[in-house]
Amino acid sequence: MKSLIAGLALVASVVAESRTSAPPGCVTVSSSGGDFTSIQQAVDSFDTGSSGEQCIFLSPGTYNEQVLISSRSAQFTIYGYTDDTSSYAGNKATITGRKSQADGLSNDQTATLRVKAKNFKLYNVNVANTYGEGSQAVALSAAADSGYYGSAFTGFQDTVLANSGKQLYANCLIQGATDFIFGKEAPAWFEACDIRVVAKPLGYITANGRGSAGGTSYYVFNNAKVGAASGHNVPDGAYYLGRPWGAYARVVFQNSQLSAVVNPQGWRIWNVGDERTEGVTFAEYNNSGKGAQGTRASFSKSLSAAVSISDVLGGDYSSAGYYDASYM
Ligand SMILES: *[C@@H]1O[C@H](CO)[C@@H](O)[C@H](O)[C@H]1NC(C)=O
Repeated sequence: MKSLIAGLALVASVVAESRTSAPPGCVTVSSSGGDFTSIQQAVDSFDTGSSGEQCIFLSPGTYNEQVLISSRSAQFTIYGYTDDTSSYAGNKATITGRKSQADGLSNDQTATLRVKAKNFKLYNVNVANTYGEGSQAVALSAAADSGYYGSAFTGFQDTVLANSGKQLYANCLIQGATDFIFGKEAPAWFEACDIRVVAKPLGYITANGRGSAGGTSYYVFNNAKVGAASGHNVPDGAYYLGRPWGAYARVVFQNSQLSAVVNPQGWRIWNVGDERTEGVTFAEYNNSGKGAQGTRASFSKSLSAAVSISDVLGGDYSSAGYYDASYM
């Protein structure tokens, strides 16, 4: 029995189910008239001082607004309408914005969704920043322990600001061109995510900002698929897995499929004359595909074993409020 369970666990993945109405206890947001027509109004209807659980359900539609989930005592969840909870592909609810640093805002302030609430969870929602090329324009700014499941984050420069708190992204899409997964302090585990790059001659997937040897930031991509975004013709070798925003940047890709969009060198300096490579940990283990081949940059390394999730999120990760074992 034990070995049967272990065998099942190896192939277990989240079961495809639909979610077409609000889970019990959640308020509904709908542009055609639910409890609220605006997501922010729904969020603000909850008391930040009360504990327990708070949740909202997004009906199908495009919500053109910036959403701030402020710090609170309760565990807060946003669920999106979908025919298949296991993936982002069937998502029907999109939050979209187009703020950028060109508006005189900080990176966090440009984000379409800003998360400051500990143990926040997001399920099956698309989050977009449609500003495009030219300035930093964030889709998700995550600044708390938080989990993201079956969700899609799209942008161009700086799509996901994984900045502070422990973070888990599972079965998600993250798309962009320049430094599009970045941040300074967060340890973040990316499980079975699709990393999609848009048509550009040169781009960087991660720009980890770990600034010292004792810094907490650590991005690990496990079972990821890296390739061109749908409809985008990306030259071979155009993209690097990362460059060091901080001189102690720490990023691992493991057990992942890397298409030919990934440059044979794999990793890149920050800039000529400001390389920032002395303290970096840029590493790989058991990757496959054309993008996993080539002579890697001298400041990167290959590992002899995979990094474990507890190395990144801590030994108690599976009891954390943001953690959902059904996606793992
Ligand atoms: C290598 O990665 C593949 C794909 O994720 C996985 O199926 C396989 O078990 C991994 N091998 C090792 C030795 O970790």
